[in-house]
Amino acid sequence: MERDKSNAEHGFTGTNLAITFKETDRLMGWCGLQPFEPIPDKKEIFYGLSPAFWNKGHMTEAAEAVLKYGFETLGLPEVVAGVKPENLASTAVLEKIGFSFQHILDEVPEDCEFYQGELFHKITRKQYQAS
Ligand SMILES: CC(C)(COP(=O)(O)OP(=O)(O)OC[C@H]1O[C@@H](n2cnc3c(N)ncnc32)[C@H](O)[C@@H]1OP(=O)(O)O)[C@@H](O)C(=O)NCCC(=O)NCCS
Repeated sequence: MERDKSNAEHGFTGTNLAITFKETDRLMGWCGLQPFEPIPDKKEIFYGLSPAFWNKGHMTEAAEAVLKYGFETLGLPEVVAGVKPENLASTAVLEKIGFSFQHILDEVPEDCEFYQGELFHKITRKQYQAS
């Protein structure tokens, strides 16, 4: 919620969904789509999960649902993702839902330094439909 608020203050809006337990409504993490800051006309999938719930397939399930929403409801032509090289689980999630590695992000705009060196991934609607 804090991140959404600060993003909105910078005119940077997207869809950020809570991942919760059906029985208790307890928050486990989030997953959403937003403009990819270094290339704002592209939409990025992003996510995070509380460590207590890692490696049980939760994020793969959530990210698949968000990707479906992006392609089938929003009609996006492609979805991208930037991942820090050390976030191996994050890359694994992307690969499991059909993304492929494109290149390392280099020479990003000055105000997007955070993304420098990230592994840029992409899936097109055509690839999604064929998978
Ligand atoms: C990335 C993250 C969301 C994954 O959530 P999750 O629910 O654990 O993901 P899943 O269980 O669906 O899949 C995780 C996959 O990563 C793999 N994995 C986990 N640790 C790994 C490692 N160190 N090296 C390689 N693969 C790893 C798991 O084996 C699993 O793949 P598999 O199903 O083929 O075995 C979670 O780890 C997280 O929040 N990490 C910290 C924040 C983060 O990295 N956010 C993304 C920023 S780009």
